[in-house]
Amino acid sequence: MWYFRSPQVIFGEDSLSFLETLSIKKAVIVTDKNIRRAGLVDIVKGNMPDTEILIVDDIPEEPKYRDMAKHLDDINNFSPEYFISIGGGSVIDSSKILFFKYERPDLEFYDVTPLVKLNLRKKSHLIAIPTTSGTGSECTWAAMVSDEMEVRKDELASPEIMPDYAILDPQMVKSLPKAQTINTATDAITHAIEGYTSRWSNPYSDAMAEKAIDLIIPSIVKLVKNPENMELRNNIHIGASMAGLSFSNSQIGLAHALGHSLGAIFHVVHGKSVGVVLPNVIRFNYDSVREKYNRLNNIIPEEYREKTLDQSIVHIFRDIGQATRVSEAGLDEKTFNANLDKLVNLASESTGIITNPADAGMDDIRNLFISSW
Ligand SMILES: [Fe+2]
Repeated sequence: MWYFRSPQVIFGEDSLSFLETLSIKKAVIVTDKNIRRAGLVDIVKGNMPDTEILIVDDIPEEPKYRDMAKHLDDINNFSPEYFISIGGGSVIDSSKILFFKYERPDLEFYDVTPLVKLNLRKKSHLIAIPTTSGTGSECTWAAMVSDEMEVRKDELASPEIMPDYAILDPQMVKSLPKAQTINTATDAITHAIEGYTSRWSNPYSDAMAEKAIDLIIPSIVKLVKNPENMELRNNIHIGASMAGLSFSNSQIGLAHALGHSLGAIFHVVHGKSVGVVLPNVIRFNYDSVREKYNRLNNIIPEEYREKTLDQSIVHIFRDIGQATRVSEAGLDEKTFNANLDKLVNLASESTGIITNPADAGMDDIRNLFISSW
């Protein structure tokens, strides 16, 4: 028995006006200072004039449990009916955890696993409004949170922490800076490719991945030259959530296993960290999923398409100014080599190893890191 899980998705121009139809009395807005400063919280508030609002606006880029826990008393006293997260992956992930702890104060963060029935939604619901086009967090049932030692990230997962609604309004990504636009699109492209070829891929996750590639690739190449184009932004915003739906219904692979490891040890931005290993991961997997890689490659418009998918990805990354190797991601070779064991060990603990289409042992992971330098 298989499932396809998805929030209710509201997308396209003016989709924020959906908020008014919910007649929310009390909502907690979860966000960060930059997003608030950019005026994005005010845009959302403008669509819910009759709602009493509590704002939590200090979610850091790599949130830890304690960053969230300190707000729980205020939230409990406020008694919201909705959590509304406005932000990128970290903010949306944090809102999933806050929502869980508000619903189940009797449980611990580590109780968020697919094996435990959490019985959430007795008091509130969760809305995600992404301000980047890439993480797919608005459509997934996982949340990445750093542990106290900051050496690794924990992935908490339960179908019950998937948002009830994902609102994809292109005005929320209108002013996304160039570097973030490129890095988050790279993440989304990687989600689509890995979701499509995961061992747990299925007809629903495949459909989402194919359409995601079809929407994102031609649009991101044009958008870097024409950042004001809202139609292109809208395509990428929708495509990124489809890529999120693909991998959250099938799983990720080796590029995320290696990328998370690079991110945890060297703090390389997530999209870049998965992008720099993606071409070599595709080469490593090619014999296992040749037909699927070729099918994805054929969706890429001819002007960017090369003979194989890995070559097309390198072509596209070069066009948009994305790094294609670890050495281009601002790392020093000596430090990289000195940390190789740590990188390999951390990557080997990822679920991406289990669902990657080809088997990868410790030596394979090490060789992939070395060949990706
Ligand atoms: Fe990702």
